[in-house]
Amino acid sequence: MRRRIVARLAENRESGRSRARRSDPGRRLWARGRRTAARRIGILGFGSYVPARVMTNADWSQLVDTDDEWILSRTGIRERHFAADDESTVDLAAHAAEQALADAGLTAVDIDEIIVASDTPEVYTPDTAAYLQHRLGAREVTAYDLGGSGCAGFVLALDIARTRIQVASKRILVVGVELISRLMDWQDRTTCVLFGDAAGAVVVGEGDAVRAEILSAAAGTDGSAAAILTLETGGTRRPFTLAEAQKGGQHDIVMNGREVYRHAVKRMAEAAERVLALAGRVKDEVALVIPHQANLRIIETMKAKLGLRDEQVYVNVDRYGNTGSATVPLALAEARREGRIAEGDLVVLTAFGAGFHWSAAALQF
Ligand code: ACO
Repeated sequence: MRRRIVARLAENRESGRSRARRSDPGRRLWARGRRTAARRIGILGFGSYVPARVMTNADWSQLVDTDDEWILSRTGIRERHFAADDESTVDLAAHAAEQALADAGLTAVDIDEIIVASDTPEVYTPDTAAYLQHRLGAREVTAYDLGGSGCAGFVLALDIARTRIQVASKRILVVGVELISRLMDWQDRTTCVLFGDAAGAVVVGEGDAVRAEILSAAAGTDGSAAAILTLETGGTRRPFTLAEAQKGGQHDIVMNGREVYRHAVKRMAEAAERVLALAGRVKDEVALVIPHQANLRIIETMKAKLGLRDEQVYVNVDRYGNTGSATVPLALAEARREGRIAEGDLVVLTAFGAGFHWSAAALQF
């Protein structure tokens, strides 16, 4: 009932606005969001997986010239999990996916589509989604990767799932997974201490089984910033060669940390505000914001920019580091398990990554 009233109020507000504003793409997205709400499209089940091996800051200080004080004060990270030698991306993804399916009371054969957001795929080609479809024993359904969106991939995939359900599939498995420890440079102290391995997954569907309705979603890209955060080797611009391999160039993550910081705060805050506006809701109504977990300072500055209280922002970067596309679904699953999200709560996801890409969604539990 409350949702219907909110939708009605949003409609009334909308009817009084000018034609010029209605022709804005964002306004069209809002309109799409309202239609979605009418069909109650959202998350049916949640899952996550972190590998058993823990790598502390003290462990890193044995390998590179760093220490716990530097890492903790600059990033808020205390430890992260790394995959075992016999684990690969699809292993992590499958664990999280199986948990999400079980949480939804479903099995793999109930799934109509699979989307995997990852920048650390199982192999160069085919995509991780193909491996996951086979591993889970899913039917011969549409399955594809969303690669290269950096840490914004999962939330963007969630919105793609929502809109695909409007026109095609019934139940979509969405996974965010990264096995970054295998592809990063273990000798580069400026990047290696930041990352961890993990996977998170949700099943998206519609109807009465929905536990978190996707009220609205938004995403954006500023490709002019591509060079600020990139791993070039392996593409056509800089193919993988013996010379690159010999100098370890295949692991060269280029990152201008300060620029990433500046843009991440701005874009994640703006995206969160955008999805709230699209949903016709305000910040005070938000029970929890789940931001991409790159670094505590980014999260804290974003929190201040949005004027949020401590208890409105979820943080687990201290225990997992930056797990790329996995951070948001991992935090979402964990926040539910910890009782940080209750029925009736409004939750905002907001993410930022290489590209630059950013994405956000508002969820009504
Ligand atoms: N241990 C000790 N010293 C280090 C380390 C380390 N692990 N890494 C860098 N340093 C040194 C540098 O070499 C430099 O030394 P110098 O002054 O002698 O040259 C000094 O620390 C300062 O280096 P900066 O890069 O300027 O450090 P800064 O204070 O900017 O902190 C950080 C770096 C944490 C990456 C910061 O820029 C930041 O928070 N950026 C946000 C980017 C981020 O979190 N990226 C994650 C991935 S991207 C994403 O998820 C969107």
